[in-house]
Amino acid sequence: MNVLATRIGKLELESPLLTASGTFGHDPAALSFLQPGDLGALVLKTVTPEAREGNPNPRMCEWPGGVMNSIGLENKGLAYWREHVAPQLAVCPVPVVANAGGHDLEEYGVMTAAFDAMQGVAAIELNLSCPNVKGGTQFSTDPDALMEVVELCRKQTAKPLWVKLSPNVAAIAPLAQAAEAAGADGLVVCNTVLGLLVDWRTRKPRLGNGFGGMSGPAVRPVALRMVWDCFRASKLPIIASGGASSADDVLDFIVAGATAVQVGTASFRRPDAISRMATELRAILAENDFTLDSLRGSLEWPTPVSCAGAASRTS
Ligand code: SIN
Repeated sequence: MNVLATRIGKLELESPLLTASGTFGHDPAALSFLQPGDLGALVLKTVTPEAREGNPNPRMCEWPGGVMNSIGLENKGLAYWREHVAPQLAVCPVPVVANAGGHDLEEYGVMTAAFDAMQGVAAIELNLSCPNVKGGTQFSTDPDALMEVVELCRKQTAKPLWVKLSPNVAAIAPLAQAAEAAGADGLVVCNTVLGLLVDWRTRKPRLGNGFGGMSGPAVRPVALRMVWDCFRASKLPIIASGGASSADDVLDFIVAGATAVQVGTASFRRPDAISRMATELRAILAENDFTLDSLRGSLEWPTPVSCAGAASRTS
């Protein structure tokens, strides 16, 4: 029996460990870092209808808490993707999740319909939360706007539709509920945390675009809080994303309510991180006779619950 087998809605996965969007390649060379059965799904970098050049350099820098990026959704656009990337996906050994971006409602609809038509795409993640582009969070900070875009995209596809939420909000629960009401199949919780690193010597930000999105260990407590808030607010499966680099981190997210966990920054440091985590995870589950299902959402919260914006889960 595969103790890591996981289901996100109707999508069956061999493992709860996924790549985080934009942090891993999709070609055989990239996948050769991982052992079969360790990766549940490959989540690819955001694609937009038109090509984008991205933000000025430098676009990434490290700090003791992790990484800060401001890539700016650089990508070659839908036409290139359809011709050059999509054909390779049909032979990918794991389910592929395509990630859609856009400037406005119409562009999200176009991307969703395009991915829906691609045989190699198993699920669609809507990137409604990039902090590095103008308007990148317009749909993930206002529940009405989020509902509108998810409803529109829902009409374009019967494939699993995941919504990647932003941590850069005061309360995430109303956004999780809006996504659920609009027909989403899963919540990705969450994108990077907006931040700023400066170099006092040059008097300049360390990133070419000024602000950037923080990822890595320092954002884990933020992501955990948001996973727990979403778990109590919505019945949708939650795909946690935020600084996981060990099996213990993964199990923390599962106990807080996650069904799966995306790994990003840890793979930059070690491209085999997901396989190391999967091996560790199997050993911990076997040693303790736990299952992922029995641990999910089992966090025992000191009463009374007092997090702002979180409604209670009814079952
Ligand atoms: C980027 O391309 O700027 C990062 C992707 C994101 O934050 O959504």
